[in-house]
Amino acid sequence: MQDIRLLTISYEAVRITYMKNRILITGGAGFIGSHLVDALVLRGHEVMVLDNLSTGFRKFLNPQAQLVKLDIRDKKAADFIVKWQPDMIYHLAAQIIAPLSIENPLHDAEINIMGTLNILEAARQAKVKRFVLVSSGGLLSSEETVLPTDEEHIIKPAIPYCLSKLAAEDYVMFYREAHALPAAIVRLANVYGPRQNPQGASGVVAIFAERMLKRQPLRLDGDGTQTADHIYVGDVVRALLLLGERPEATGPYHLGTGMETSVKDIFAKLAELTGYDLAPTPAPARLGEAKRRALDSGKIKCELGWEPRMPLDQGLALTVDWIRAQQDPVWSEQLKQTCKNKIEKLKNIQFETAIAPSK
Ligand SMILES: NC(=O)c1ccc[n+]([C@@H]2O[C@H](COP(=O)([O-])OP(=O)(O)OC[C@H]3O[C@@H](n4cnc5c(N)ncnc54)[C@H](O)[C@@H]3O)[C@@H](O)[C@H]2O)c1
Repeated sequence: MQDIRLLTISYEAVRITYMKNRILITGGAGFIGSHLVDALVLRGHEVMVLDNLSTGFRKFLNPQAQLVKLDIRDKKAADFIVKWQPDMIYHLAAQIIAPLSIENPLHDAEINIMGTLNILEAARQAKVKRFVLVSSGGLLSSEETVLPTDEEHIIKPAIPYCLSKLAAEDYVMFYREAHALPAAIVRLANVYGPRQNPQGASGVVAIFAERMLKRQPLRLDGDGTQTADHIYVGDVVRALLLLGERPEATGPYHLGTGMETSVKDIFAKLAELTGYDLAPTPAPARLGEAKRRALDSGKIKCELGWEPRMPLDQGLALTVDWIRAQQDPVWSEQLKQTCKNKIEKLKNIQFETAIAPSK
């Protein structure tokens, strides 16, 4: 099946550096990482993806990027990095499934803490000029949190996934202090967009959209009033490019829209886009799930000029189109043209690229 590469990312806010860098991206075959790879390739960098393809897909990889299939916990991964000598590392590879982290915290910690340490140690030895850690806004508890939540706020991890991501942040800060590693940390809100795995355990937009398009029954955890901050993947990539190019930026930075949308509202918006008419089945709330969540991105706006641009309704429509195209290759050809036309109309959209080979 073809993968339509329709990226709706705008780069005018990003300072263009014409120097070609060697950039290594752990987790670059995943949802967010693969979009970042596309953007870096487009800017002329030499891009290496280090990924074990546990949740990532070869078909998402830009043909101009290289792939080394290794696990971030493996010493071979560290040796590879030291030998390849990247100028820059974006570290995205992680165990990201919250329920799995509750079931098996050891596995979660091995990847998110020990794996991160392995990559950090390699980054130090390779003397990289830039290291960007992608962390999670889920670190913030809902109870005593002011919304939208800024970086000064109390961090109270509620589940092992958040504990391990926070530990990874602390190790990054240690390497910055002790070894002068030029590192930045960014904490993402709920990211959505094309290439998010609808069969994954997280990513409510992708999961709902796929099930709705297949007219399958859907479960609504909790009472559906729990909120999250949904940010489009293209907006995240713009911020990651900025962080790579601005060595003075350290963070941690919160990256979100600052707006809360309830699960019920996401359900309703997607139902409208897909023509879904079944009622959702109620289910108990998920353990450790925050009741309300939104991130205040004032700090990154002030320091780097980043702001989210993609309106939720447009981002959801693009995501539904992409999932629809994955389900029906014949339709996908027509959809490619429709999407092109739509995208050209969006004023903040700068490029789109087409088609990658299958896995
Ligand atoms: N998607 C979101 O809403 C969201 C929100 C907050 C933070 N984040 C963070 O963004 C990063 C990327 O998330 P994503 O949504 O693109 O997930 P993803 O699962 O699509 O991508 C993760 C990638 O890492 C690879 N990977 C996993 N374990 C690995 C290992 N041990 N060794 C090598 N590669 C490994 C996977 O194969 C995959 O390609 C993660 O660090 C995640 O914690 C994501």
